[in-house]
Amino acid sequence: MCGITAFRGPSAATRAHEALARLEYRGYDSAGIAARRSDGTAVHVRTLSGVAALVMGLERDPDATTAAIGHTRWATHGGVSERNAHPLEDCGGRLYVVHNGIIENADVLRERLRSAGHRLATDVDTEVVVHLLEEAVSVGLDLGRALADTAALMEGSWAVVVLDTRTGALAGTAHGSPLILADTGDGVYLASDVGAVAPFVSAFRVLEDDDVVDIDAEGTRWHRAGGSRRPRGLWPVPAISLLASSGRHTDHMGNEIDEQPIVARRVLDALSPGIRDGALWNRLGLPPLENVDRVAVLGCGTSLHAGRALAGVFARAGHLPTRALTASEAGHEVWEPRTLVVAMSQSGETADVLRALDGLPSGHATVLALTNNTASSLARRADAVIDCLAGPEIGVAATKTFVAQVLTGACVALSGLWSSPRADAATLEADFTALAGTPDALSGALHAWRDRAAELAGDLVTASGFLFLGRGAGLVYAAEGALKLKELSYRWAEPHAAGELKHGPLALVDAGTPVFVVDDGDPRLDVDIAEVQARAGRVIRVGERSLRVGGLELQLPRRGPSWGPLESVIPLQLFARELALRLERNVDKPRNLAKSVTVA
Ligand code: M6R
Repeated sequence: MCGITAFRGPSAATRAHEALARLEYRGYDSAGIAARRSDGTAVHVRTLSGVAALVMGLERDPDATTAAIGHTRWATHGGVSERNAHPLEDCGGRLYVVHNGIIENADVLRERLRSAGHRLATDVDTEVVVHLLEEAVSVGLDLGRALADTAALMEGSWAVVVLDTRTGALAGTAHGSPLILADTGDGVYLASDVGAVAPFVSAFRVLEDDDVVDIDAEGTRWHRAGGSRRPRGLWPVPAISLLASSGRHTDHMGNEIDEQPIVARRVLDALSPGIRDGALWNRLGLPPLENVDRVAVLGCGTSLHAGRALAGVFARAGHLPTRALTASEAGHEVWEPRTLVVAMSQSGETADVLRALDGLPSGHATVLALTNNTASSLARRADAVIDCLAGPEIGVAATKTFVAQVLTGACVALSGLWSSPRADAATLEADFTALAGTPDALSGALHAWRDRAAELAGDLVTASGFLFLGRGAGLVYAAEGALKLKELSYRWAEPHAAGELKHGPLALVDAGTPVFVVDDGDPRLDVDIAEVQARAGRVIRVGERSLRVGGLELQLPRRGPSWGPLESVIPLQLFARELALRLERNVDKPRNLAKSVTVA
């Protein structure tokens, strides 16, 4: 989603810009920087051409700046334009503001400000913040106090940082949207994500709701709601031992797809030794499963799909009542005691997930966070955290984090279930064996489908819509394939339980309609396929458990693992990317999307 960076100290614009580049993949509709130069003048640059393009606009010496704020935007209120890009300025060009979140009462505040004579130049909700600050500062309040008073008038969610270009002071506050502070010794950063500053600091502090910090020549002052001045505690920046995927593709997504067998191997090497003795489960401090009556897995988008696959492990191998919840709908849930909640989120910053956890009745549930960001808001909020070890994923469309989440979740679940009397011992053994074969199965799928996916994309480049079918454990992979296709190619793609075809979706099938079928070995799929073929639809079957050896087709055991045919996601990812490339889409930055969705 949007990204915020700020720095007060030497070479401020350069430092804020460097940090901003690390957040760009999270939101890329526009970018901007405002800074105070050492000579007391202001610089304000905005662009639709990406963070790198800001350098040109920073003109003169960007190092001769003492305080700066930066932003990458994912538009919510107001179209994508330079005019609507952050930082936004007040009437006098003195104060500049960057904001993540949504000001829900912006319309009312806007009217009030207009009648008071302010010139509002954009369609963005954030603009009211800078004009309210202007009013507060004009009556003599210091920046921190002005920000606290302004925030008291706002409804919604925000992380806000304001720069006073006259004094070089910065102030920040947060309410339902992350903001962290990190001291480098020679200066102070504010950022919406620790990833922005991870290479430059070893520890950081997190602003809790309604905290205000102000940073000026006299230092950093912390104001907690309720009056305390004590700074929040320090969190270590997790060591970044894993590098972003690299390889033969110029896009990140292609390399991230290719890296999946390696990621799978890494997860299994780290976690599978702790399965059979339950050590992995115990290390996480999770309650024994005798004390858990049900499991609820929640997440959004691809993480929700990974959660559904994980739910299959608790249900099929563990015979535990399990449900997978769309986090944005979890507010309607009735929570029972003794529930284990597994919150899935690669970014750990997804507002819908965090809000779902806010709705849990206290004392009812243990929350396990399964994330690729152990320094995230989700990780800090959970009772236990497991790192899915995918390494940095830059492509907005999740690929390797999906595989990592499914396998990490499966290892944790199997570890907990190993000693559970209600679990099915034969299924546990079969799942354990299947885990070990996963990296090869993923490699095999890459090998088998790379050229085929490209050819298929060539054939289907004019298709306007796609169906994705599956049954049982295969259904979630059909859903993931459809999600990948729509987000990358901007073509319609509908996932359905194959048994539902005859209840409506079959009406969509015409001569040549592409229908992907995820084959998890359920024999009833043959009937579903026949129904499509009878209407001359084009069936593309993926995940078949067969292997061609020396010209012979060998059938693999039909029963797949409890998490379903994970390797079937590979052809679907490859196809989505190939189709998108043919359609000249940006596969790393699909339109209208963002890597980290921090508004609920
Ligand atoms: O960071 P999260 O895993 O919580 O993100 C959840 C979804 O926003 C995310 O999976 C989204 O659906 C991706 N663009 C899918 O490729």
